[in-house]
Amino acid sequence: MPPQRWPAEALWEDMAPALPGFTVEVLPEIDSTNSELMRRARAGRSEAVLLVAERQSAGRGRQGRTWHGQPGAALTFSLGLTLAPGDWAGLSLAVGVTLSEALDQRIGLKWPNDLWLLDRKLAGILVETAGGGSGTAQRYTVVGVGINLAAPDGAGLSTAPAGLREVWPDAGPGEVLLRVAPALAKALQVFQAEGFAPFRPRYLHRDVLRDRHVVLSDGRTGTAAGVDERGGLLVHTAAGLVTVTSSEVSVRPDHSA
Ligand code: BTN
Repeated sequence: MPPQRWPAEALWEDMAPALPGFTVEVLPEIDSTNSELMRRARAGRSEAVLLVAERQSAGRGRQGRTWHGQPGAALTFSLGLTLAPGDWAGLSLAVGVTLSEALDQRIGLKWPNDLWLLDRKLAGILVETAGGGSGTAQRYTVVGVGINLAAPDGAGLSTAPAGLREVWPDAGPGEVLLRVAPALAKALQVFQAEGFAPFRPRYLHRDVLRDRHVVLSDGRTGTAAGVDERGGLLVHTAAGLVTVTSSEVSVRPDHSA
């Protein structure tokens, strides 16, 4: 495989004005870009950084899952920066909105923040924070993003994942990064100032669960009815309208319905 070329300078020029001390780092390999930025934050390093890995040996997903991505076939990066929003609710949904809008109008969002293409998972987001403590609103925030460029092998999965090249045939990691990373940095500033409110209608526009029969991991079932002002998933169940907020509750569309 020829060495990948990364548009580090163009990224820096676009993103640095809004992020004091910002750097772009590309590593050939690391365990996980999220783990690395969280380690740095715990060691007292809280600089704004875009950390890109060509290969991750221990990529992490939500709820303790593993995230697999083949070199050249996936874009994997984390953006670390200090944020101090008035309300953190809806942050990961706002990230999903931003990435999907930056990529393609056919991309939908599956609560809370997976990007779906043609009813299959295209990309995942893992948001983690460090620091803060009582009395401080400010936390170092690591937004990790994994986007499949080529559709991975779906063996062992209930639904095969999607790849961005299905709609953007020659999509390369560098150009995709240039589309999404500056947009993400700008969106995080908007989220810090205004919270989830400006992102909610845009989320609803791409919500793939809307009006679908869903099954929650805690056994409840119902019909998805959008998200509330704080990004909680609304579900009409036999017991009435419930709001699902716990990131520990996963939700999937009921394909048999
Ligand atoms: C999910 O779908 O559950 C979230 C997947 C997040 C994967 C990205 S890849 C870059 C960053 N580093 C990680 O270890 N995870 C995120």
